[in-house]
Amino acid sequence: MAEMARAYNRASFFGNATFPLPMHIGPHTLANNVFVAPMAGVTDRPFRQLCRSFGAGYAVSEMVTSRRDLWNSLKTSRRANHEGEPGPVAVQIAGTDAQMMADAAAYNIDRGAQIIDINMGCPAKKVCNKWAGSALMQDEPLAVAIAQAVVRACEPHGVPVTLKMRTGWSREHRNALVLARAFEDIGVRMLTVHGRTREQGYKGLAEYETIAAVKSAVRIPVVANGDVDSPEKARAVLAATGADAVMVGRAAQGQPWIFREIAHFLATGTQLAPPLVAEVQRALLEHLQDHYGLYGEFTGVRSARKHIGWYVRALPGGDAFRAEMNGIEDSGAQLSAVHRFFDALGARMDRLPVRAAGMAEEFAENEA
Ligand SMILES: Cc1cc2nc3c(=O)[nH]c(=O)nc-3n(C[C@H](O)[C@H](O)[C@H](O)COP(=O)(O)O)c2cc1C
Repeated sequence: MAEMARAYNRASFFGNATFPLPMHIGPHTLANNVFVAPMAGVTDRPFRQLCRSFGAGYAVSEMVTSRRDLWNSLKTSRRANHEGEPGPVAVQIAGTDAQMMADAAAYNIDRGAQIIDINMGCPAKKVCNKWAGSALMQDEPLAVAIAQAVVRACEPHGVPVTLKMRTGWSREHRNALVLARAFEDIGVRMLTVHGRTREQGYKGLAEYETIAAVKSAVRIPVVANGDVDSPEKARAVLAATGADAVMVGRAAQGQPWIFREIAHFLATGTQLAPPLVAEVQRALLEHLQDHYGLYGEFTGVRSARKHIGWYVRALPGGDAFRAEMNGIEDSGAQLSAVHRFFDALGARMDRLPVRAAGMAEEFAENEA
């Protein structure tokens, strides 16, 4: 509660602006306290780099399985690809067995991970059927044993361990607070809390009281997550929770510039203008090139469709363009179509229209 009051005081003393202190995770200093959330199937290296270039202070990889038999699979090796990624490189691992999770941490450290994040936040069936992700919150001794094994595996390398969780298993079992204290005691260096229970999935609204309670119960940095979709919401969530940082997931889909908008608003209390159409066109075309580079032509063109759809969904002509995209099967034609769409838009307006806050429609179904 003291932290919460301090955050409020800071905000009111400086009018509309908040001045967060620089954040550290172990030896790493982060650029700011606005983070992009790990989203499987979305926050691959190209998208993380894009978010970082648009002002996200920190980005964690999509989860990597602790199952050794899958480490050489195409999916896992793409997820473990950090070529050219600005540091610190943070890799999220998911699994159910303490030793396997410790081994996965060591494996990813060998491949460049500088921070290991443990996934106890993801509700996807593929993960939860095997008792990983947020399902682990139901088995506190196992959750703690996993965190302890991972911390021990990372310690000799000087690699800090962070953890992402929900507020609890269900409304009746909101145990984030108990677990947060246990995780801090065994050496976890930062906690992210998504303000929903596992039972909620993505339904209902995120609540921030539990995040505030976690923040006031531990000394390590706490990151607030859930439904942050505008600069104002980010400021309100920071004030309500006293958290050290906010993490943005779905609202970054198709609008990676949201990070600079939030960071600017937190620092100055004023809103940035929406991006120039020409800037968005350039960013998306570069994003696509990078995306094809990671996934190759066939998979790249198909998996790029969802990103393109998110970029254009609120723009005039966006729906028709999304439909057109689904019929395009090669990268050259996809790039040209995107080029043409934004050329036409740029002829009508200099900047993107101001967008109402709102989430992308693709939710947990895409996870895994
Ligand atoms: C498509 C998708 C994939 C996700 N994948 C992961 C994941 O791999 N690891 C994880 O900890 N959380 C995952 N999440 C949860 C997000 O990190 C975040 O906690 C959640 O979306 C709430 O934040 P938001 O309201 O800003 O989207 C995923 C969410 C979505 C929508």
